[in-house]
Parts: sequence; structure tokens; C-alpha cells
Amino acid sequence: MTTVNVRKAQVHDLPHLLKLEHEAFSGDCISRRSWIGLLRSQSALVLVAAHHQSIVGAAIVLTRKGSAVARLYSIAVEHGHRRSGIGRALISEALACAGEAGSAEMRLESRSDNPNAHRLFRSLGFESFGRVVDRYYEDGMSAVRFRKVHHCTVPQARPLRGTPSSTGGPSSPLMDMKALTPEISVANLMALQVWNKATLVVARSVLQWPPAVGISKSTVATNSWRSPWFLNTQE
Ligand SMILES: CC(C)(COP(=O)(O)OP(=O)(O)OC[C@H]1O[C@@H](n2cnc3c(N)ncnc32)[C@H](O)[C@@H]1OP(=O)(O)O)[C@@H](O)C(=O)NCCC(=O)NCCS
Repeated sequence: MTTVNVRKAQVHDLPHLLKLEHEAFSGDCISRRSWIGLLRSQSALVLVAAHHQSIVGAAIVLTRKGSAVARLYSIAVEHGHRRSGIGRALISEALACAGEAGSAEMRLESRSDNPNAHRLFRSLGFESFGRVVDRYYEDGMSAVRFRKVHHCTVPQARPLRGTPSSTGGPSSPLMDMKALTPEISVANLMALQVWNKATLVVARSVLQWPPAVGISKSTVATNSWRSPWFLNTQE
């Protein structure tokens, strides 16, 4: 059993990453230049499994701004350290990091002739989907596509249909409410209630109406909105 520390790769890990890459893959290897680009990229996460002074495994996850789908671009574990859970540990950390970066699904392609890797992905809840992609790799081998829906720790705002306005007004707070608490029902009536309360807040703060109330950070709370979404900000 190899004990490893899974962490984000640093530029000084580059020689280890190149060595691992050439040991694990016979074709489609990531060049030195591409590795440097990946290590510097904002949209790439390179994770390494460190064991003493060396790197015994690595995984690359690619993300795209505005997309909830992350891609596991590569995973490799050094030959002498396989079958001790390192691949699984790297992918688990990759899923957690992707979730923190706003992704809710991870996808990957894997050679059709790599059943061991497929077992690893399936053991972590990945499922194959779509058609096998012919001649995906440089030697002509096809690819099986896998995906897994995972936990996203960043709230995703999704557009709602059926509210009085889809671009402004109460839609924005409603989208946030729905994203943070998916089980709530965001019906037209609730949209109207938000609209109603927002109007009252504006009336009180901008028009100073009714005159006795004035502008206050707790204005929303003083509207006695009976919803957990409106926190009582007693400042
Ligand atoms: C695929 C690879 C990353 C797996 O890494 P690993 O650290 O050995 O994997 P793990 O020890 O975490 O194994 C997890 C599970 O994967 C499956 N698995 C992995 N290697 C296996 C093998 N040689 N035979 C059978 N099942 C295997 C098993 O289900 C295993 O669970 P178990 O040990 O409880 O039975 C590694 O073999 C590797 O680097 N291969 C070369 C590069 C590669 O093919 N990358 C994948 C590109 S898509």
C-alpha cells in the first residue's frame, strides 16, 4: 500500500510529470510545452500524487468558464504503484476540485482497449454514454466516453420560465433561491411577492416613504417578510 499526498502540481514537478507520462502512455503523449501550458492555465487543474520526493500519479482536469461540465483529460499512475488506490484518490480529488470550481458533471474519453481504466471509472460512478468515437487516438483506436454527475459546491443560477420577467425584476433573486434550495417551488405568486417587497424597499429608502422609517440596512427585515431568504440583519 502506497501512502500518497494528493496536491496541486507545481512547475517544479514538470520533470516527474514528463517521466510519468512517457512511462504510462505509448502514444498521444502530452508534450513538455503542453505540460507547461497546462500548469499555467487558469482552466486546467493538474493534480499529483506525491510519494516522498517523487510523483507517482497525476490527473488533469479541464474546465471551461460558463460550463458546468469538466473534463478529465488524463490520469496516470506509475507502474510500480498501481492497484493501491492512487488512481481512485486522484479522481476523487479531481471531482471535489471540479465541484468547487462550479462543475456539476465530469466527462472523459478512454481507449476502448483499456478495460482496467474503465473498471476504475465505473467503480467511482462514471457511466459510459453516447457512441464509441471511432479513430479517436493517434494509433486509430476508438474511445469510449464516460460521464458522472457530481456534487457542485457553487450554486448554479439557472434561468426560470413562467415568472413575470425572465431578465430582471424578481427573476434574479428567485434564480438564486432556486439554485440554493432546489426543492422550493418558485411560482408566479412568489415572484410577485418579491416584486412587491422590493418595491416597498425602494419606496422606503429612495422616496423616504413612509417618512418615519428612513434608510436602514435592516429595511428588508423590517418589511416582516416571512421567508428564511430575508435574513434579519440587525446591524
Ligand atoms: C488506469 C490507472 C490510472 C489506474 O490507477 P490505479 O492507481 O492502479 O487504480 P486504483 O488502484 O485506484 O484502482 C481502482 C480500481 O480500478 C480497477 N483497476 C485498476 N487497475 C486494474 C487492473 N490492473 N486490473 C483490474 N482492475 C483494475 C479496479 O476496479 C480497482 O479497484 P480494486 O483495486 O478495489 O479492485 C493506471 O492503471 C494507469 O496509470 N494506467 C496507464 C494509463 C492509463 O491507462 N490511464 C487511463 C487513461 S483513460
